[in-house]
Amino acid sequence: MTMIYYEEHGDLNHLQGKTIGVIGYGSLGQSVALNLRDSGLTVLVSEIAVDRAEQAREIGFQVVATETAVRQCPIILLLVPNEVMPSVYLEQISPYLERGHLLVFASAYNLTFGFIEPPPFVDVGLIAPRILGPAVRERFTTPEGYHSFISVAQDSSGNAWPLLLALAKAVGTLRAGAIEITFQWEAELDLFVQQTILPLMHLVFTTAANLLIGKGYTPEAALTELYLSGEITYYLERAVNNGLLQALLRSPLTNQYGTFTRVNRFSDLKLERLMEVTLDEIRSGAFAKEWSKEYADGFSRLKKLIREQQGLELWELEKQALEMFGQNIES
Ligand SMILES: NC(=O)c1ccc[n+]([C@@H]2O[C@H](COP(=O)([O-])OP(=O)(O)OC[C@H]3O[C@@H](n4cnc5c(N)ncnc54)[C@H](OP(=O)(O)O)[C@@H]3O)[C@@H](O)[C@H]2O)c1
Repeated sequence: MTMIYYEEHGDLNHLQGKTIGVIGYGSLGQSVALNLRDSGLTVLVSEIAVDRAEQAREIGFQVVATETAVRQCPIILLLVPNEVMPSVYLEQISPYLERGHLLVFASAYNLTFGFIEPPPFVDVGLIAPRILGPAVRERFTTPEGYHSFISVAQDSSGNAWPLLLALAKAVGTLRAGAIEITFQWEAELDLFVQQTILPLMHLVFTTAANLLIGKGYTPEAALTELYLSGEITYYLERAVNNGLLQALLRSPLTNQYGTFTRVNRFSDLKLERLMEVTLDEIRSGAFAKEWSKEYADGFSRLKKLIREQQGLELWELEKQALEMFGQNIES
């Protein structure tokens, strides 16, 4: 049975006297550092981006070199981008690791695919939020909190779980519940959603938008109906709180009838097969190898694909529609 940890499972006393090193003050690192500090803990930040390091200093964090953080902190949170993490780990973290260190990841990617192999004498844990970095801060003070996946890959000290659960409490995830899974599952599930649900959603919205605009609906009308109104967000929120079926059963009857009579029209056997192929690529490590090569090539393929997308006429129409609603989008 899946274990879910809540507030009562985390005891902040386990962190007393322990300084926590947050390596990377980016989207997640900033939120995590602030949450830890607001939970009464002492945090050292390491950040290479000059402006972010300055931001951290301005609000009172001590910013140090990664090596210094590792030397001074028994608990290290690795919150740099996954692509750069192996070299940061190899050059600035692993030479300074000692027995008793706890390394905490927010993504299981590098351990699962063998890019980082911590020595057996340290503890290794995972607290991987299931929401975006800024929301980790926003939901810190709200009753709903946020979910995370939590795991221990190495428990050399015999104390990894109490420490990790105390940290999970301090960053605010135990309010909603931290779900225990393996490192491998976290990495695979994360990539699976990125490579199936998100591309499908992108395809569904862009196909529908192009079709409707081609049939003479104005971009404002078509895009508002499709996603700009936020109706879909509201629908998904219902699904989050009540389940996917209840979200539908609470919709108007025409909606229910339209969905149940037409859903099979779109159910193509190939969809499941394509998802399976995608999952196989992830589980075999083929995607991780591909992504490492892309990183080494300076993201050349990704940059080309982004340029191609940006060249599509739909985005200019979307921009105009957003401007009509008074939104100024960043390019
Ligand atoms: N963001 C999320 O929503 C989210 C959610 C769940 C899990 N995660 C996980 O959290 C981790 C961090 O992701 P993120 O999205 O927060 O990354 P991010 O926004 O890109 O921030 C990482 C920060 O680390 C800095 N950095 C890079 N190399 C460094 C080094 N050698 N020493 C110190 N700082 C360094 C980066 O500076 P530069 O910009 O100059 O490179 C950047 O400011 C990843 O494992 C990710 O998978 C993120």
